[in-house]
Amino acid sequence: MGKDIITLAIESSCDETSVAIMKNGREVLANEILSQIDIHKLYGGVVPEIASRHHLESINHVVEEALKKGNVTFEDIDFISATKGPGLVGALLIGVATAKAYALAMNKDLVGVHHIHGHICANYIEHKDLEPPFLALVISGGHTNLISVKSYTEYEVLGGTRDDAIGEAYDKVARVLGLGYPGGPKIDAIAKEGNPEAVHFKRVFLEKGSLDFSFSGIKTGVLNYINGERQKGNEIVVADIAASFQEAVLEVLVTKVINSAVELGEKKLVLAGGVAANSRLKELLEEKCKKNKIELYYPSLKLCTDNAAMIGCAAYYKYLEGKKDALDLDATAILEI
Ligand code: KG4
Ligand code: ZN
Repeated sequence: MGKDIITLAIESSCDETSVAIMKNGREVLANEILSQIDIHKLYGGVVPEIASRHHLESINHVVEEALKKGNVTFEDIDFISATKGPGLVGALLIGVATAKAYALAMNKDLVGVHHIHGHICANYIEHKDLEPPFLALVISGGHTNLISVKSYTEYEVLGGTRDDAIGEAYDKVARVLGLGYPGGPKIDAIAKEGNPEAVHFKRVFLEKGSLDFSFSGIKTGVLNYINGERQKGNEIVVADIAASFQEAVLEVLVTKVINSAVELGEKKLVLAGGVAANSRLKELLEEKCKKNKIELYYPSLKLCTDNAAMIGCAAYYKYLEGKKDALDLDATAILEI
C-alpha cells in the first residue's frame, strides 16, 4: 500500500460554503457545510451578490474548521481542489481564488472540478462497491441530465432539460403555493398529506425516443389551475396541488429513466443532486428498479445537496490520472458536462 492521498476540497457554487478533507478520494475526514439558506429565504431565492459576500466572509473560517475536524494540517494535504463551475460566477470565484491561494502559498497541486461530476461522485463515498460504468440521473436546482458514466472521469450526456431544471420547477411551484424557499423539501413533505390524483397536470414526454425533459409548462399549469379555482370561489388545497404536481413530474422522469436504462441494458442507476433527496422519487424508482432488475444507488441527504466531500472525491480520480490545473484556473458560470 502506498501513502494515503489527502485532499482539501472547496465547494461554493451556490449558497453553501463547504470545505472537506478526503482520504484516498472516498473516505470523509471532514465535510463542513455552512448554509446560507436562512439568509436567502428572506428574498424567496438565492441572491448572487449576497451569496458571494457570505462565501468571502466565511471561507477561511470553514477551511480552519475542516482541518481541525479532519485532524490534519496543511503539511498533510497532497492537493487542493475546488468547484470551477457551473454556478453563480461570483460565488464560484471565492472558492477557486481561495484554492489557488492555498495551492500557491503551500506549494500544492490544484484540481478544478465540474459541479455535476461532483454530485455523481457523491455516490462513491457511500457505496464503496460502486464502480463505473453506470447510468446517472442528475437532478438539482440547476440541472436535469441523464448521463452515461463511462469511467471515473468520462461522462456522456444522453439527455437534458430544454427549459427549467426539475429542482427549479419544484422551487417555482412551491413559491406559487406560498411554501417558501427552498421549495423541493417543502413540496416533498406536504405532498404526503395530499391526494396525487386530485388535479391532473399535463405530462410532457416530448418526441418519441427523446431523452430530453421539459418542466416549464407545469408551473403555468399550476398557476392557471389556482387562478381558475379562485375565480370559481373554490378553496385551494395546497397539499393536493403539491401532490398532483409532484406525481406529474415524477411520472415523466421515472418513465423516461427506466425506459432508457432498459433499452441501454444498464444494470446500475445512480441518482445525484438535491432532488435525489425526494422521498416519493426514491419510492417510485425503488419499485421500478426492482421490477427491471436494476440496482439503484443514491447518496444520503447530506451528500445529495451541495457539499465539498463530493468535489474532493471527483478531484481524486482526476488527480490519479494527472488531470491537474495551473494557477490560471478560472471560475465558469456555464460549463459543459
Ligand atoms: O444540488 P443542489 O443542492 O443545488 C444545485 O446544484 O442546484 O439542489 C438544490 C435543489 C433545489 O431546487 C431544492 O428545492 C431541491 O434540490 N431539493 C428537493 C428536495 N430537497 C432538495 N427537491 C425535491 N424534493 C426534495 N426532498
Ligand atoms: Zn448542486
